[in-house]
Amino acid sequence: MEKIKLGIVGLGRLGRKHAENIAFRIPNAELTAVCSIIEAEVEDAVNAWGIPYGYTDFNEMLKNDALDGIAIASSSTEHCKQIEAALDAGFHVFSEKPLGVNLEECKIAEKAVERHPDKVFFLGFMRRYDESYAYAKKKIEAGDIGKPFLIRCYGLDPVKAVQGAIAFAEKSGGLFLDMAIHDIDLARWYLGSEAKSIYAIGGCYAYPEFEKYNDADNGAALMQFENGTMAMLYAGRTCAHGYHIETEIVGTEGSLRIGTTPQKNLVTLFNENGAIKESVGGFLERFEQAYINEVQAFVDCIVENRKPDVTVYDGTKSTKIAYAAKESFENNKLVVLE
Ligand SMILES: NC(=O)c1ccc[n+]([C@@H]2O[C@H](COP(=O)([O-])OP(=O)(O)OC[C@H]3O[C@@H](n4cnc5c(N)ncnc54)[C@H](O)[C@@H]3O)[C@@H](O)[C@H]2O)c1
Repeated sequence: MEKIKLGIVGLGRLGRKHAENIAFRIPNAELTAVCSIIEAEVEDAVNAWGIPYGYTDFNEMLKNDALDGIAIASSSTEHCKQIEAALDAGFHVFSEKPLGVNLEECKIAEKAVERHPDKVFFLGFMRRYDESYAYAKKKIEAGDIGKPFLIRCYGLDPVKAVQGAIAFAEKSGGLFLDMAIHDIDLARWYLGSEAKSIYAIGGCYAYPEFEKYNDADNGAALMQFENGTMAMLYAGRTCAHGYHIETEIVGTEGSLRIGTTPQKNLVTLFNENGAIKESVGGFLERFEQAYINEVQAFVDCIVENRKPDVTVYDGTKSTKIAYAAKESFENNKLVVLE
């Protein structure tokens, strides 16, 4: 079997999981190089998994002609320049979301993708590769809920991970670009239209630490799409019961709900506190298989010489909407998208 040799940049909360998946769970891929500005992370991956090449400088990794592709799981502010550099150096590229943290950056990435039509560019909107979200899409396409006209999304991180979110806040792009971007992508995907206007509000209700980044610990947004449909988004970082990702799509003849109770499994614990269903603890647990599926899809696109369904333009459009939400929140006004 032909094995695609990948190098990964970013070995943090998600990058290390992607690295491990590439090394052990994607049969037609090989983890050939790892890179992080944190030397200990590089040493750890190289030693633990026997990876041939380790780098602390991304541009050095791009000189390695043993590689076929680069997976980018670095901080969100690094994505677009790394996408451009990796494509220009002749590699296929997988990038984590968001594509970029502002529109100008996204346009640079778009141009780089356009300059290299022979290369695969894959954007990690992994929810589209989650079994339940993909199933819901098929149901909508089959007409099972009639015409969808509203999407309601909860994207809530567990409060137990809030210190990590505070440490990450400076380079996250803010609550809407970092977290609501998944729901924005789903809204475009399920409603089949582009956003026309957005109004976002929020605040630092529990963690004033986010204030210095002009950010919120919880926020909400209301959107209207060009085809008249609607979206209600709620993103938060202080969810007491765990990682709560819930999506409802309402149509003229029914509705679909995904993840209404974010339960860990089918077990119910009965004790003096009542009948308890434990919650999913975090993104790595809830989307474990989706993270494998999306990188597998990237590698398959390379092997089969075809392009993924999600494009760089989906990345730009989602960032544009999320950035508009950030502007709306910061200035307390409705933003009409051009
Ligand atoms: N799809 C999802 O569900 C999901 C979940 C979590 C994070 N993410 C995204 O993944 C990315 C990484 O998030 P994280 O939580 O793992 O962040 P993190 O802060 O834990 O890790 C960032 C990693 O990138 C490395 N890095 C940063 N700048 C670098 C540079 N210039 N050169 C080399 N290495 C560099 C750091 O050393 C670190 O290893 C972010 O863009 C985030 O939005 C996506």
